[in-house]
This record gives sequence, structure tokens and C-alpha cells, in this order.
Amino acid sequence: LLGQSDVSNGWQRVASVKEIPEGEPKDFTVNFPLDQSYGSQKVEKRSGVGTGEKFTIKNAIYLSWKTEVKPDGSLGKVMKPEFLKNKSKGFSKAQRKELEKNINVMSNSCAHLGCPVRWLVREGEGLFLCPCHGGLYNINGAYVGGPPPRGLYRYTYEVRSNGDVYAKHEFDVGGKNGYARPYVV
Ligand code: FES
Repeated sequence: LLGQSDVSNGWQRVASVKEIPEGEPKDFTVNFPLDQSYGSQKVEKRSGVGTGEKFTIKNAIYLSWKTEVKPDGSLGKVMKPEFLKNKSKGFSKAQRKELEKNINVMSNSCAHLGCPVRWLVREGEGLFLCPCHGGLYNINGAYVGGPPPRGLYRYTYEVRSNGDVYAKHEFDVGGKNGYARPYVV
């Protein structure tokens, strides 16, 4: 059972940093209680269902290590901290910050009209491709081509001392995270 504070705070576990592969992103399914996202009273009113009913909203969250993308599109240095080799939990505050700085926590919904993007590899090079109108993004979620007006949306997230990544159902649409967060290039 997770601590109550995790739930009431709106944080949901995504995965352990140990589960993030190098050189490609990986998607994880996370169920966010709907009342965390939109307020329980609103949900109850709209749905006509009283207190106690739990609605969840299923998100596919892509995690990747920030990765150097060369001008020809090939991938270079992976920003995976060295200390992860010897350690899988009990991270200090500084180590958690380092992990947070070096991961991408991205929505799978295309920033154009929201179709689910997929990671495709062709001739050894991978990109997120949106099947609807051909939007393209790199491993860091940065815009590469097609109609999307920006890179993939990012969740508010944190890394806990056991190495688990937690996310909130809120995105970098303006607000404190801003639009253009610096990517590793
Ligand atoms: Fe993805 Fe249009 S919805 S390119």
C-alpha cells in the first residue's frame, strides 16, 4: 500500500530509473485518479455519481535518458549517471537531483492533435513517429518534423530515494516548467 500522501498529493508511480533503457525510450502505463486531475466535485457532478466512485485516466508515459542527438540524427552520449551501475536504491538528495536532471518524462500524445506516438527504429536510428500526420520527435521529445508546433509534453515529475519516478497529471504547458526546457543536444 502506498502512503496516503502519495495519493492525495496527486503523485503516481511510473517506474524505477533502473527500468529506463539506454538508446531508446520505454513506455509505462499509469492510472491517474480522475479527481486528482479535475477535482472530485466536478467529476461527481458531470458523471452523476456520488462520492466513493473512482474514475481513472490511463496515460502512457515515455521515459528515456537524456541523450545527445548528433546533426545526422544518430545518438551519442547517454546522460545516465555512473553511480547507477553500483546502486539501485538509497539515493541521496544530490543523486536524486542528478537523476531528475537526466531523464525525460514525456506524454505519448502527439503535440499536434494528440494521437499516440510510437518509437520506430529505421537503419539503426530511432524517432517517435505520430501515425496521424507524420509528426516526428527525437529521443528527448524534441520536435524534429511535421505539423506539431512543439516537442512532446512533459509531466511534472520527481525521483524518490528508492529510485522510483513519480509523475503528476500536469504538463509543461506554460506555467512553472515553461515551453522551452533545455534539451541535451
Ligand atoms: Fe500527430 Fe497530427 S496528431 S502529427
